[in-house]
Amino acid sequence: MKVAINTGGGDAPGLNAAIRAATLAALKRGWEVVGVKNGYGSIYTDDPFIPLDAQSVRGITLQGGTILGTANRGNPFDLPYKKEDGSWDTKDVSGHLVQTFEEHGVDALIAIGGDGSMNIASRLIKKGINIVGVPNTLDNDIYGCDITLGFDAAIDIATGAIDRITTTAESHQRLMVVEVMGRYAGWIALYAGIAASADVILIPEIPFSYESIVEKINERESKGRHYTMIVVAEGGMEKDGELVTKGKTVGQQVQLGGIAQRVADELSERTGKESRSVVLGHLQRGGSPSTYDRLISLRFGAAAIRCIQERDFNKLVVLQDNRLKRIPITSVANKMKSVPLESDTLQTARDIGICLGD
Ligand code: F6P
Repeated sequence: MKVAINTGGGDAPGLNAAIRAATLAALKRGWEVVGVKNGYGSIYTDDPFIPLDAQSVRGITLQGGTILGTANRGNPFDLPYKKEDGSWDTKDVSGHLVQTFEEHGVDALIAIGGDGSMNIASRLIKKGINIVGVPNTLDNDIYGCDITLGFDAAIDIATGAIDRITTTAESHQRLMVVEVMGRYAGWIALYAGIAASADVILIPEIPFSYESIVEKINERESKGRHYTMIVVAEGGMEKDGELVTKGKTVGQQVQLGGIAQRVADELSERTGKESRSVVLGHLQRGGSPSTYDRLISLRFGAAAIRCIQERDFNKLVVLQDNRLKRIPITSVANKMKSVPLESDTLQTARDIGICLGD
């Protein structure tokens, strides 16, 4: 059996742990393992794979990033290329990918990634590739997964950052608006915001009104609290408003960002208070995985190999109710896990007096 491992899309702490567990579990069965370089991004080169052995995965559990490299512009069905006139377009190179896998004798692929990677995987399945998926994204938004690898480290980093920003907000009696990642889901904003005792949390699932936030600021002022901590998800938006984006590059998803500055400016205007915005950005994706992330990544990686051994292909290994399960990759493609409006975490936020902007 020859297994290829691919890490595609945005990286997250825990990827290397998953690669290590999958590699060691495969080697233990006497199989061969290769890594796909740069998330399909190098599929056109002479050398698209990295051989993986016990030595190459030694000591990587605690390393952030991915030793294989990744690409946000590596969708084989929509691969960007530069045309002769210098402009960019995309083309479908999935046939070439399938052929490369065949030529190298790859029997099964472990696709580690987020929603984009699972959409690609579900299309590659139709082209005859045997795939097992592993859910990786700090956004925690993959349908059918209680938790994805990278989320725990991300909320830990975001919580620590909001804690630190709170002390300077209080000293300067300012409104501080912290923007966190998460794309169209509010998991990071909600979890880190609650844990760091933010006063206002704005998530995409609940479009906000400035009136509601100003009311909260005024309530705090009346109690002598002359600062307010606001956490906003990058996909958060005003009621009847639009997503704040930084544009789109060919072959990539639209880049979100800028909502924190917009909220800070508008709130200063409305309250007369000084404000600052901070975008945590890629800090949330870097560095060593948390203990929890290491553990689920190792569990996911080894479980993927057991799936392959049983020839139970085209499944995504997931955690549901703290048990490892397998669900069809096609059942999660083109879907997203939002924060449920009835979730007890949202209710907790309301119960402890956090304003959710509605
Ligand atoms: O999907 C993970 C993620 O970190 C999102 O939270 C964020 O919007 C996006 O990736 C950023 O992507 P890039 O690394 O291309 O800027």
